[in-house]
Amino acid sequence: LDNGLGRTPPMGWNSWERFRCNVDCDNDPENCIGEKLYMQMADRMAADGYKDAGYEYVNVDDCWMAKERGPDGKLQADPKRFPSGMKALGDYIHSKGLKFGIYEDFGTQTCGGFPGSKFFMETDAQTFADWGVDLLKLDGCYSNIEDMTSGYPIMEFFLNKTGRPILYSCSWPAYFVAYKKIPDYKAIAKSCNIWRNYDDIQDSWDSVTEIVNYYAKNKGNFFEVAGPGSFNDPDMLIIGNFGLSRDQQRAQMAMWAIMAAPLLMSADLRKMDPYSKSILLNKDVIAINQDPMGQPGSIILDMNQIQIWFRPVMPKGSAAFAVLYTGSYGTPEKLSLKCETLGMVGPGGYNVTEVFDGRYVGMFKSADNINITVNPSGVFLGKAVYLGN
Ligand code: DGJ
Repeated sequence: LDNGLGRTPPMGWNSWERFRCNVDCDNDPENCIGEKLYMQMADRMAADGYKDAGYEYVNVDDCWMAKERGPDGKLQADPKRFPSGMKALGDYIHSKGLKFGIYEDFGTQTCGGFPGSKFFMETDAQTFADWGVDLLKLDGCYSNIEDMTSGYPIMEFFLNKTGRPILYSCSWPAYFVAYKKIPDYKAIAKSCNIWRNYDDIQDSWDSVTEIVNYYAKNKGNFFEVAGPGSFNDPDMLIIGNFGLSRDQQRAQMAMWAIMAAPLLMSADLRKMDPYSKSILLNKDVIAINQDPMGQPGSIILDMNQIQIWFRPVMPKGSAAFAVLYTGSYGTPEKLSLKCETLGMVGPGGYNVTEVFDGRYVGMFKSADNINITVNPSGVFLGKAVYLGN
């Protein structure tokens, strides 16, 4: 969507994967969906280096609303859990130098059973703009998927009409895929800044690899429509939660960088262990994700449990590549790969660095072999800077 937003993949935090639809503030006040949670996450983002690293959106997901619209037809936050109201929450997030994201649904209800935007799109877009919202995620539960092709662009129109820049995140293709239909990605990229292609991420390595494997297939050629202003969204980062080992956390971060995916953390930033935090804050991995060309990588070799992905990045002719070992046969794989195989085909040679540890690997020509060790359910993320310019 050419609205000046999301020229590189948006970065931020979203409550859903980690905190879900926990509305029980009486018994679980620290973790329930309420203003306190979002204010605390905004505090942590600003104070703990996330904001400085580029994470800026604080995204409220499902279950923030009151069960009914107000008498004026407008959406209202649950008064008990958001006693100060959404405008005040937005102001607080903005006061930390961050941006405010919100969630609604295209259908009659959100997935969690709160009021949907069907028949209220214009009102809702204006309400969000009045609250200072900077990002809208529009989900697709309780709707007719046939309506999405015309309906998602209608919300784009009403968001635009408010005059407030609001990054637009669409779940439209994910629902098409769930109903075994091939989405029209050209139309989606024209109307949405980011879009979910596939099922929700869960807190497990199986879930991460399932998503990566879906992207490897690129069914419908969605990578081809991605670029500045329009990015595929393979869903949230689960780094810092319960389900991934250290290597698996690196692997998710590396693959999200290669795929030019939004970096939306969904973890408890109040309780991050230093390792997870260092992965999320790694400047060189983030730089690959945020490469200004905005061209996503793609899989160039699939050898059973080893996948090789390649993403062109600046400076011209350079690349990031990931060797992903999805298997868990308990010993590191030692590979000797011809640089050509990794997509390094330029005649001028490359300086290669391992990205997570910043370790210089060497200077290579395309016909040279490079030795790579990759841990079980882990990744080798390389950056190859082209020397032939
Ligand atoms: C489905 C979406 O895909 C999730 O990311 C989350 O927003 C839930 N709905 C909320 O109900």
